[in-house]
Amino acid sequence: MIVAVDGPAASGKGTIARALAARYMLPHLDTGLLYRAVGLSVLRAGGDPADAAQALAACDFSDAALHDPQLKSEAAGKTASMVSAHPEVRAALLQRQRDFAARRGGAVLDGRDIGTVIAPDADAKLFVTASAEVRAQRRFDELTRMGLAVHYDAVLGDIRSRDARDSGRSAAPLRMADDAVLLDTTALDVEAAIAAACRLVERAVHKAANDGDA
Ligand code: DC
Repeated sequence: MIVAVDGPAASGKGTIARALAARYMLPHLDTGLLYRAVGLSVLRAGGDPADAAQALAACDFSDAALHDPQLKSEAAGKTASMVSAHPEVRAALLQRQRDFAARRGGAVLDGRDIGTVIAPDADAKLFVTASAEVRAQRRFDELTRMGLAVHYDAVLGDIRSRDARDSGRSAAPLRMADDAVLLDTTALDVEAAIAAACRLVERAVHKAANDGDA
């Protein structure tokens, strides 16, 4: 079974994807980490993330690079959003993600274009979202817990500009696949969001099995 989980920054898609992977005993790939690894590498080299050639040169990294704790930083996230707009970068990372999705037994992948580009034939596709204000509050709480001094308005501004960049780019923009189901987590806590995601996956798999019988 292949499960595609897409959605904007801080929507809860990562938490939901990890929970689905644990529940169905499937390997999980957070595809945002790939773009973060490219962005971080460009940053560390003192390069320019807006330069497609420099970003492309950073795409050849090992799986070990995906465990770097710095990948989780806000700077890596912002740079990831910039390098991910280059079609060359998306093309360079495509096969790695498709290979993961094609693993025997299936996989769960989360990102922005899993249901539309990476795994268009996924058995279940979720599009996880929440209001920008609620996503900013969650990110603010997370950063504050980490001991960082941040302002809510600045976090909300970052979320809005990331949304605009991820949705507005021409290469594989963030968009809900026509056959995806929407999961709005604005009013849900983590447990309720995970429970809803499991119900939606089971419904999608059932429907696919019934359609197959028809
Ligand atoms: O999910 P995330 O916040 O870790 O992703 C970081 C950035 O990477 C995001 O702003 C856009 C980009 N990204 C993408 O373009 N396609 C994906 N499948 C995953 C992430």
